Amino acid sequence: MASTKGQVIKCKAAVAWEKNQPMTIEEIEVAPPKAKEIRIKVIATGLCHSDLSAWKGILPFTKFPCVLGHEASGIVESVGEGITSVKEGDHVLSSFLPQCNECPMCKSPNSNMCVKFFESLGYPGMLLDGTSRFSCKGKTVHHFVACSTFAQYTVIPHGFFTKIRNDAPMEKICLLSCGVTTGYGGPVKVAKIKPGSTCAVFGLGAVGLGAVMGCKRQGAGKIFGVDINNDKKEIAKTFGVTDFVNPTEHQKPIDQVLMDLTQQVGCDYTFECIGNVGVIQSALAACRVGEGQCVVIGVPPSGTNIAVDPMQLLFGRVLTGCFFGGLEPSEVPALVDDYMQKKIMLDEFITHTLSIDDVNKAFDYLIQGKTLKTVMHF
Ligand code: APR
Ligand code: ZN
Ligand code: ZN
Repeated sequence: MASTKGQVIKCKAAVAWEKNQPMTIEEIEVAPPKAKEIRIKVIATGLCHSDLSAWKGILPFTKFPCVLGHEASGIVESVGEGITSVKEGDHVLSSFLPQCNECPMCKSPNSNMCVKFFESLGYPGMLLDGTSRFSCKGKTVHHFVACSTFAQYTVIPHGFFTKIRNDAPMEKICLLSCGVTTGYGGPVKVAKIKPGSTCAVFGLGAVGLGAVMGCKRQGAGKIFGVDINNDKKEIAKTFGVTDFVNPTEHQKPIDQVLMDLTQQVGCDYTFECIGNVGVIQSALAACRVGEGQCVVIGVPPSGTNIAVDPMQLLFGRVLTGCFFGGLEPSEVPALVDDYMQKKIMLDEFITHTLSIDDVNKAFDYLIQGKTLKTVMHF
């Protein structure tokens, strides 16, 4: 096949023209990568709840029209000047949370944040030089969190991708690019939970079940799985939930239900995997006095606030949170190895495999709570 390096590529993409409106499949033009960027051929992309939030217009940094998607595996098609970490043909995962390895945040061993993430927020819908590589029908199309993986080809800046081994199944490991890793890192990297602990995971989507998987791997004694959808009960057990609790089936508030279920001790660790400020309050209140830790993992709509009674903190409960499970993108290749060695599950998350042509169907399934993970291909 003739090389496409340096040329504009015309390819298929799902374009979101306006918030809350069905996306349309279009032929878009994808410009070559500029300096410190790469262009990849997307092989498989998961649908994450944050794509849905962006489509609804409740994430601050989304600009329409745009190509959504941020959870993909792909193959490097070409690299821009100054890229040395990957070459044509390498396999990569997109990473909405970058790792430049040069900024003070990257250099701190205590943080997985990166200055480039905040820089990118300064150019919503654009790459780091403030411009887009996408156009369609003569109009500029925006990027989404520097990934935009609902396109056959996309351009990604340095830091916003991770090189991975090239023998891992792309249609499975794309899940490590966001959702599953985001949940899994909560108990494993952020809370580093102790064996025998009592944990509660609020929200049993792919993020929550990733957290459950992490709790189990760390040797948790009891794992409460809290969800308003009873359809999650059976699948949650396969990931390690020992006790399923549906808050709508109880008279008392869920934190008091969990207190009762733990003989008024509370949970050692709770993980909020929904993005609901009310649930964050309940998850903190369900923690054990003196030492219980609540980790916020779900992303609430922008502009919302948590109302925390300071006594909760004075009583020694800890409220913390993390993006991408507190993991650095450079830690993801080890998770790919774990999957290949059957130490973590991925296949079990995939409830639907669809063509990108059915992107609106994939969104509907997520809205209706009918899916854990939909993986789309081109
Ligand atoms: N109490 C308990 N469970 C709830 C509640 C509630 N009030 N509201 C929703 N849920 C459950 C849903 O029934 C669903 O099972 O939370 C789960 C959310 O799962 P998904 O929609 O599949 O979302 P997921 O992809 O797991 O992402 C969850 O993490 O990365 C962020 O932006 C993402 O904020 C989102 C969160
Ligand atoms: Zn950095
Ligand atoms: Zn995501």
